[in-house]
Amino acid sequence: MSAPALAERLKVVSVAASVAMTNRARELTAQGHKVISLTVGEPDFSAPPHAIEAMHQAALRGETKYTPQDGVKPLKEAVQRKFKRDNNLDYALDEIMVANGGKQIIMDALLATVDEGDEVVIPAPYWISYGDMAKLAGGVPKFVNCPQNNGFKLRAEDLDAAITPKTKWLILNFPNNPSGAACSREEMKALAEVMLKHPHVWILTDDMYEHMVYDGFEFCTIAEVEPRLKDRVLTVNGASKTYAMTGFRVGFCGGPKQLIKAMVNMQGQLTSGINGMAQAAVAAALDGPQDLVKERAEIYRQRRDIVVEALKSCPGVQCHKPEGAFYVYPNIAGCLGKTTPGGVKIETDADFALALLSEKHVATVQGSAYGMSPYIRISYATGTEDLKEACRRIQEFCNSLV
Ligand SMILES: Cc1ncc(COP(=O)(O)O)c(C=O)c1O
Repeated sequence: MSAPALAERLKVVSVAASVAMTNRARELTAQGHKVISLTVGEPDFSAPPHAIEAMHQAALRGETKYTPQDGVKPLKEAVQRKFKRDNNLDYALDEIMVANGGKQIIMDALLATVDEGDEVVIPAPYWISYGDMAKLAGGVPKFVNCPQNNGFKLRAEDLDAAITPKTKWLILNFPNNPSGAACSREEMKALAEVMLKHPHVWILTDDMYEHMVYDGFEFCTIAEVEPRLKDRVLTVNGASKTYAMTGFRVGFCGGPKQLIKAMVNMQGQLTSGINGMAQAAVAAALDGPQDLVKERAEIYRQRRDIVVEALKSCPGVQCHKPEGAFYVYPNIAGCLGKTTPGGVKIETDADFALALLSEKHVATVQGSAYGMSPYIRISYATGTEDLKEACRRIQEFCNSLV
């Protein structure tokens, strides 16, 4: 007897490409190998102690009940202060909501706005979830290449060409996962000019990596760069990357009141208000000392430089030095067609990543998973010593290709 059917909708959701890598890494670890993973998009630091303490105190105060669907007032007020302090953006409390991570904010927004067949413009390379989330909401992702020779940034003319009468959203994510590229104010201004011409399109800016920018680079966000766009911009951020609070599952956003209201309705049916104790922790992180954020950014910068420097001496690899996030996205075109000591012919970036894992026990993710090949994504949110050892192994691997 066959099992009851699953939903058609499942067909639009791809299984994360990194799963095969993770499984292989587990097998190798079980065999006793020291596998170094450069795959995770998660800070290797701990959550700030004052945030953990605030969570504990909230629990003791009895803040263990259902919470308002849009978030508790103290956190919304802390988010309001954060947007003003970091982004010079004024949002009223009814223009702010919190959700289970930035991920849910994005899904709430798409579910609340996208009708069947609406297009969502997504610059590539992209964070894996955008396309699948757009499809789940009934939309059609339209990927726009951000070429390496433009520093993996979105060109205004390419953006303009991608917008049609069916476009509902543009999703921006700079500093970018996976390329690390970030936009200067001037570059953002050029994108904003294009968007002024297309008033039927919402703009979602995923600013999750805002505080991870290096060498004096100044982060900017589109609603601040072009205030005339603010009433159709959703500014998305969260605690996961900035405060190394991934497991707390708290994301937040500022946007026009009507959009926020629709998103809160959507979230009300999906998950309701989020964990109240986690909200207390994030309010403490947002309002507490911010030195940790800067100190950690400096450690990330040092690691970025270690990786970029090491990759320079890898034959066949060309690595751009990104402005931000904690990823580099080296081009491995020069390794294609070569063979590893283990006898694997490298035809694609997936072959490269899998052979690097099998033969040198370093896990990375192939660029095809992010919509741009032939590249690999290296996350340097990994202890510095492990990172150096991983770089040494990557050099050995590239040197051994014939
Ligand atoms: C670009 C980007 N946006 C959003 C998220 C999700 O963050 P959160 O933990 O807040 O859901 C991630 C996590 O990897 C990310 O890389």
